[in-house]
Amino acid sequence: MTKALADRIDQLADQMTLEEQVSLLSGQDFWSVAAIDRLGIGTLRVTDGPNGARGGGSLIGGVKSACFPAGIALGATWNVSLLGDIGVALAQEVKSKSAHMLLAPTVNIHRSVTNGRNFECYAEDPMLSAELASAYITGLQSQGIGATIKHFVGNESEIERTTMSSEIDERALREIYLIPFEWAVKKAGTWGVMSSYNRLNGTFTSEHDWLLGTVLRQEWGYDGIVMSDWFGSHSTAETVNAGLDLEMPGPTRDRGQKLVDAVKAGTVSRDTLRQRVIAMLTLMGRVGSLDDHRDFVEHADDRPEHRALIRRAGAEAAVLLKNNGILPLKGDGSIAVIGPNAKTAQIMGGGSAQLNAHYRISPWQGLVAALGGDRLHYAPGCTNHRFEPVLKGGFRVDYFANEKLAGEPAYTCSQDEAQAFWIGNVAEGKVDPLHFSARVSGSFTPETSGSHRVGIYAAGFARVFVDGQLIADAWTNWSKGRTFFEEGCDEVVGMVALEAGRAHDVVIEFATKDFATLGLAAFAAGIGLPLSDDAIAEAVRLARNADTAIVCIGRNGEWDTEGSDLASIALPGRQAELVAAVAHANPNTIVVLQTGGPVEMDWIGSVAALVQAWYPGQEAGNAIADVLTGAVEPSGRLPQTFPARWADNPAHSQDAEVYPGFEGKVRYEEGIFVGYRHYDRLGLTPLFPFGFGLSYTSFALGDLVVDDSAFEADGSVRVSVTLTNTGARDGATVVQLYVSDDASSDPRPAKELKAFDKVWLKAGASAPVTMVLDARAFAFFRPKAQHWLVEHGSFTLRVGLSSADLPLTATVTRTTTLMLPV
Ligand code: BGC
Repeated sequence: MTKALADRIDQLADQMTLEEQVSLLSGQDFWSVAAIDRLGIGTLRVTDGPNGARGGGSLIGGVKSACFPAGIALGATWNVSLLGDIGVALAQEVKSKSAHMLLAPTVNIHRSVTNGRNFECYAEDPMLSAELASAYITGLQSQGIGATIKHFVGNESEIERTTMSSEIDERALREIYLIPFEWAVKKAGTWGVMSSYNRLNGTFTSEHDWLLGTVLRQEWGYDGIVMSDWFGSHSTAETVNAGLDLEMPGPTRDRGQKLVDAVKAGTVSRDTLRQRVIAMLTLMGRVGSLDDHRDFVEHADDRPEHRALIRRAGAEAAVLLKNNGILPLKGDGSIAVIGPNAKTAQIMGGGSAQLNAHYRISPWQGLVAALGGDRLHYAPGCTNHRFEPVLKGGFRVDYFANEKLAGEPAYTCSQDEAQAFWIGNVAEGKVDPLHFSARVSGSFTPETSGSHRVGIYAAGFARVFVDGQLIADAWTNWSKGRTFFEEGCDEVVGMVALEAGRAHDVVIEFATKDFATLGLAAFAAGIGLPLSDDAIAEAVRLARNADTAIVCIGRNGEWDTEGSDLASIALPGRQAELVAAVAHANPNTIVVLQTGGPVEMDWIGSVAALVQAWYPGQEAGNAIADVLTGAVEPSGRLPQTFPARWADNPAHSQDAEVYPGFEGKVRYEEGIFVGYRHYDRLGLTPLFPFGFGLSYTSFALGDLVVDDSAFEADGSVRVSVTLTNTGARDGATVVQLYVSDDASSDPRPAKELKAFDKVWLKAGASAPVTMVLDARAFAFFRPKAQHWLVEHGSFTLRVGLSSADLPLTATVTRTTTLMLPV
């Protein structure tokens, strides 16, 4: 920040009335902080985040945006410079939505394989997450757009997330969960941090003195803002005093007049208030909103260079987990393209990360574009949805300014699907967003006659009538479930016989109910015809007659979503049965798996190849086809261990307090032994280890050289190896460096990732790869003494191409080094 700007900010803070100062510390609506016209201060606008910039408005619909790969997919690229490029591109997207700050990146750690939001987070390893997040933030902020790294800290599950206390010991916090945030502050200079919903060891993070004051600001020297997660601030003086600058969203619940009164009563000092105001003005200076008086306009900016970047990143994220030589695809034989994800493009996860993508390419479309349609044949085989498919078509919506659908509608409009997510301004302000009702009327014309499933779930009371008959009732039977950020009920399903070709009347009635934490009203209604056994038989027949079968399976954003953890890691529906049956019919079966994490795979031995493709963004199908055809070399590596069984995962426990939580507490009993640290400790062999992924070429490592001549000067060690592409194709791989403490006074993981480098090499080429370790790479945290300690003794450095393949080792000796947590 220039001196001139710092002076201006000081002056502005001085010129403000108490009320004006307070007004800067909470939102005016869901996505902005009000301007102060008297002083020429413009509006600050924020947008979700993290795989695109959705813009203002609701989670559903809205102005179109570019959809980038989900966090776990970016984690799988292990490509730091790619994350920087994505940060730069996302800044352009944020600008297209007239916003100044992106609510991203998400860097919570993959503690449990069932966490609904793992898809949004990079990795199980703190160092990998930290490197990627820092690059993303640096890219974003290089364009003048602020990052808001989230959720600080301990939001590793979606169960009761707005009240749960994550019980994490300080060592695990320092060594695992805080690391991505620490790097984002120290290495990338993030301008924003979002506190999490949960409590940390009993106290809401939004009012946690130690977290926001001692660690973030004093020790790390943070000079940006801390904003609450949406509705995650629960007090006035406590949050302000602890260091929460901005309460979101608006209008305020705990600030405004309450904060003015608290200042007058002396429970918040003028000085503390000023610090929060200065933080806000500094942010506004950094992102340019201090002087931004443009009209609020959002536009869809579908740029060719973003399309290309998304396709490149999506392909680079794919992890080739098994290949008996069938890939890349060869010859011109026929291909059966099978599975519920074949013609449906699964591009992103669910929740606040979702956006209205410019377009969505399905695997089928990608394969047709790459190979032509003549060789390809399709069968769905089975379904994998969690909820009945949302009803599409024209709907008339009548809004009532009461909760009883009584009287004349206050507002009428139309919409093109039977779902809504109402926040903030509803029905152009004609109804109170938290107290209204609506009738949604349309019709459904089935393609096939039969007994259909009618589903409804809602944050509010809702029911569906078909041809005047009540079929699905989530009104009288409403009970809290795992939808709409835990404000909704589980889906209620009723059956109705429908006739092909006939337009059946469908009416959905909705009324708001008291909400728990988040002020939202929402519903989704769907109708589906269950697939019969014939669907699997048809897929098998297709596979048997084809040279190759590609089975596109997995989950979707209904499963991998904010607000709801998975109940298991079994593939939903009959997908496991489908894969086994297809593989039995055709040995050349390739599985393309799209999920936000591992699934149990009893069928793995029977398939010829497996590609984990995650949620790769709007270019999904093209990115997948690029890898299958070999247009792009697979270079993704797992950012999370894939266990053989859910029970092997560190958070899996008979003790509910360890997971999913009990009586408001979730105890991180495994401490620092998260991810591969856990499997190593118990000697469990995972299905696929952390850092693993195959290429179409092969690599060899040699010449490990350790240079610690700078050790006395700065504590660093340089580690060099030679990487050779020993195969016949060009390709890329990730050289990984793990450190083991050979004899420690405290328990330490068998090894920890401390450096990595992604390297591209032509067929037959060799290149030196150098990685640098700093003193912290050898240290562990001692809570009692409050310092990082490198203990005197020997450390083994292990270099290889996955956590389970570390052929090169060397030993270094370090002398005792103490480091304060600054
Ligand atoms: C999420 C945040 C998000 C915010 C605004 C919350 O539910 O936890 O990650 O940025 O909503 O949509």
